[in-house]
Amino acid sequence: MQCSWKAVILLALASIAIQYTAIRTLTSKPFQLCPVPSPQNCGLLGGPETESPIEGRAGCDDYPYFSFNASRKTHIMVLATTRSGSSFVGQLLNQHADIFYLFEPLYHVQTTLIPRLSHSRNAADRRVMLGASRDLLRSLYGCDLYFLESYIKPAPANHTTDKLFRRGASRALCSLPVCDAFGPTDTNVEEGDCVKKCASLNMTLAADACREKRHVAIKVVRVPEIGDLRALVEDPRLNIKVIQLVRDPRGILSSRIETFRDTYRLWRIWRATGRRPYNLDLSQLTVVCEDFLGSVSTGLSHPHWLKGKYMLVRYEDLSRNPLLKTMEIYDFLGLPMDKSVEEWIQTNTRGSTELSAKHKYGTVRDSAANAESWRLKLSYDMVEYTQATCHKVLHQLGYKAVKSAEELKNMSLSLVQDKTFVPFS
Ligand SMILES: *[C@@H]1O[C@H](CO)[C@@H](O)[C@H](O)[C@H]1NC(C)=O
Ligand SMILES: *[C@@H]1O[C@H](CO)[C@@H](O)[C@H](O)[C@H]1NC(C)=O
Ligand SMILES: *[C@@H]1O[C@H](CO)[C@@H](O)[C@H](O)[C@H]1NC(C)=O
Ligand SMILES: *[C@@H]1O[C@H](CO)[C@@H](O)[C@H](O)[C@H]1NC(C)=O
Repeated sequence: MQCSWKAVILLALASIAIQYTAIRTLTSKPFQLCPVPSPQNCGLLGGPETESPIEGRAGCDDYPYFSFNASRKTHIMVLATTRSGSSFVGQLLNQHADIFYLFEPLYHVQTTLIPRLSHSRNAADRRVMLGASRDLLRSLYGCDLYFLESYIKPAPANHTTDKLFRRGASRALCSLPVCDAFGPTDTNVEEGDCVKKCASLNMTLAADACREKRHVAIKVVRVPEIGDLRALVEDPRLNIKVIQLVRDPRGILSSRIETFRDTYRLWRIWRATGRRPYNLDLSQLTVVCEDFLGSVSTGLSHPHWLKGKYMLVRYEDLSRNPLLKTMEIYDFLGLPMDKSVEEWIQTNTRGSTELSAKHKYGTVRDSAANAESWRLKLSYDMVEYTQATCHKVLHQLGYKAVKSAEELKNMSLSLVQDKTFVPFS
């Protein structure tokens, strides 16, 4: 029994490694050939897109990715976990006229390499996934969108696809010149409308659009610990700024129970019956909180490699004070906040139910008033259990534990302590 188990796991690992190697071989772009940016080797960067530069942008100097002038392009990363409000933060960046935004491209890496293990604890799985993720992120920050194609299923033909995950969440991919279904004045295209009305995504056009923008922002929820990104953060060709978004793990849990109905089925049973199913896999929560703690501890310990590149944002603070927090975020990024970001905040954080019902981003639904609504949804048992498992990270981030069901349901008691996290400058 034991033996065959191991054999199965070994086989699975071997096949993952082979797939990964194959993908790397098939798509390998000469990053390794180009370790030091210089005008001479800049041309090596990419495939065909490098040879057909946009008019007036031919020089090497004009490839911001390889430029020494770091102020030219900022590579923004929203580092979060699922259901922590990252779509909301993503939109705060997506709305900016100078930012090219991608919604969780690592989805494709995971579905290709590790189809069924969404939060694998297996160390080897993780290494494979992380290696591939770093390569992909590096390419995407350089606007090499072709690199992503090797992970998209079915494989795009002629560099077009209609399978890009959450394409509609990216403004640049739903507007001219990438999509001609809407006019230049249609600024607030709904995600669903984009997917319905835009023709297949032409990756060449998308890459051009990326290069046209001054900055690139990517939302990432599939990297468990910020330490896993060190090689990327230290890469001299990039100018990474990490916004680590955190949320009360009790809120994350509650939101996941609503969203991932299969994975969290037993938690739903617990919630519905008031009794913990004997076969509930508690490691789900343990992993979440261990990763969370590891990641946040690394970030807040201010290692030298994160200097000037790290900001921690609590989702609850953002919900309470969206405009102010957003200004702080843009301050940290060193970018002026533009009018459309402000307008988007005005429209999307009023908490009106009409808006909530209408929008499908998963942003409005979760904003402002809702940040603490988990308290009305989880039973005290579940909260108590979560607090015990996650007590270190709760403490570190300033979330108060409750000691009774009365405290839990008394919404006039805030569980979010005032705590200031200054960006690491
Ligand atoms: C970097 O680029 C910016 C914007 O193009 C420019 O204003 C700035 O002077 C440049 N800095 C250096 C050191 O070249
Ligand atoms: C790709 O483009 C070629 C040349 O234009 C065309 O012959 C072929 O049918 C296209 N393939 C697909 C799957 O659209
Ligand atoms: C995608 O866009 C590029 C650049 O405009 C164009 O040359 C190419 O033909 C387009 N591809 C398809 C399949 O339409
Ligand atoms: C809720 O908390 C407030 C503030 O501590 C307290 O004054 C109030 O009595 C509590 N309400 C209930 C129903 O326990």
